Amino acid sequence: MYPLFEFPTIGGGMIIALIATFHILPCHLATGGFWMAYFLERRGHADNNQELLDYIKKFALMILIFCFVLGSITGVGIWFASTIISPRAISGLIHNYVWGWATEWVFFVIEIVTIYTYYYTFGKVAPKTHMRIGLIYAWAAWISMVIITGILAFMMTPGKWLETGGFFDGFFNPTYWPQLFYRTMMMLAISGMFAAVMAGFMKAGETKDYVVKTAGRWGLGGLVLGALFAVWYYFKLPATAHEILATIPYAAMMFKVSLIVGVIVAIYFILLIAGRTALVHPVLAIAMVIVLFVGIGGGESVREFSRRPYLMPGYMYSNQVVAHDLEVKGIKSELARFQEEGFLQSNYFVPDEWRNINEKNYLQVGMLVTKANCVICHTMEVDGRSSLPGLIASMGIPGAEDLATFLETIGDDYAYMPAFAGNEIERRAAAAYMASIVPNNEEEPPTPEWVLSGE
Ligand code: HEC
Repeated sequence: MYPLFEFPTIGGGMIIALIATFHILPCHLATGGFWMAYFLERRGHADNNQELLDYIKKFALMILIFCFVLGSITGVGIWFASTIISPRAISGLIHNYVWGWATEWVFFVIEIVTIYTYYYTFGKVAPKTHMRIGLIYAWAAWISMVIITGILAFMMTPGKWLETGGFFDGFFNPTYWPQLFYRTMMMLAISGMFAAVMAGFMKAGETKDYVVKTAGRWGLGGLVLGALFAVWYYFKLPATAHEILATIPYAAMMFKVSLIVGVIVAIYFILLIAGRTALVHPVLAIAMVIVLFVGIGGGESVREFSRRPYLMPGYMYSNQVVAHDLEVKGIKSELARFQEEGFLQSNYFVPDEWRNINEKNYLQVGMLVTKANCVICHTMEVDGRSSLPGLIASMGIPGAEDLATFLETIGDDYAYMPAFAGNEIERRAAAAYMASIVPNNEEEPPTPEWVLSGE
């Protein structure tokens, strides 16, 4: 295990989720936008419509600025945040998919080269050549999605990889195809939204009407097909994921948020198709982007919740403890070892004076063990997100002995929480610490003897 990184009150998971939501909008636009640009440019040349060509040039420039600045910064941000919050997740991905990432970066370089070439050769090379450059970009960008989706889906449903450890067994896993089709459709819907925003800056007339209608059609088509693939995706998720969405209020709420946003955005696209050109007024169109953004946040939260209690289902828990043997890679379960030999003895980054629990340090060690187990999903602050003291208080079991029993059953009774990784005395120390952070705890604090008698 690496040293812990704790993000108080907000929680590290939320930080990653926020950055990811900011990333998804630009990156789906970057992958989808040029299919639309290609379609419109062909039309522009066929009709010899300079106004439409000017629009596409601006469209491409805005993709270049928005996606390649915001998208790249947030992409690096995800790597950075995940590396400090869940270093072992990143390590696991690198060990298995370094060639996947390398391949993806090749396509990313192609994207960067072609988008600049596309923009700076606008009107300077033959239309056919120019459109080909756009098409190369569109393919390269989509292929980068084809690759990333495999790695993302692997973290949801690793499938046969758990037995074989094979690159492609993990890559083409049970949720790969539904997720790829779903994301492909969403990229077209997001491009439709972007086209509408950009149309808001055109002068009124036939070309604008045409662009608005096309934006609405692409948007609605993408959204409706995307919803169908999302249903397929949903049914491919494991039973625990369905249970989580049905029982955890936050996950259920996020699910609803994404559905409601889907309906609002669909209505917007229908109105665009019906010729309500006034709706692309920049203020309104940008407000719709914000609505879409909220929906993406909801959808991604659902995705994150669905793999609980795992980072990589069947292998590593969210708190980075290896939960099961992975025979094919020669990896042994740490959970079993931590429960027998103890967490403190098995980890390098534990201060020496904390390796053995005594009556002076048991609360501090309890804090360490609690955080190592729980802080990836819960905050320790009373007013924090998914607050541990808050949840304990509302369950009404603030006594240390009850908490110790709770920790013993946590992996069995709650499908979405990992089993406690620690031995008996560590469990008691953690329970003592947990009791100490519950506000206005009326239970007697545990005695050091009780904690130490766990040995
Ligand atoms: C993989 C994420 C995850 C981890 C790790 C995790 N929990 Fe939870 N826990 C949850 C979720 C999700 C809930 C549902 C409540 C919510 O929305 O926050 C929950 C609920 C709880 C509750 C309230 C249960 C109830 O019946 O009301 C307690 C208490 C709790 N967790 C304690 C812990 C403790 C202690 C640890 C560490 C030993 C821990 N959790 C680790 C995700 C996690």
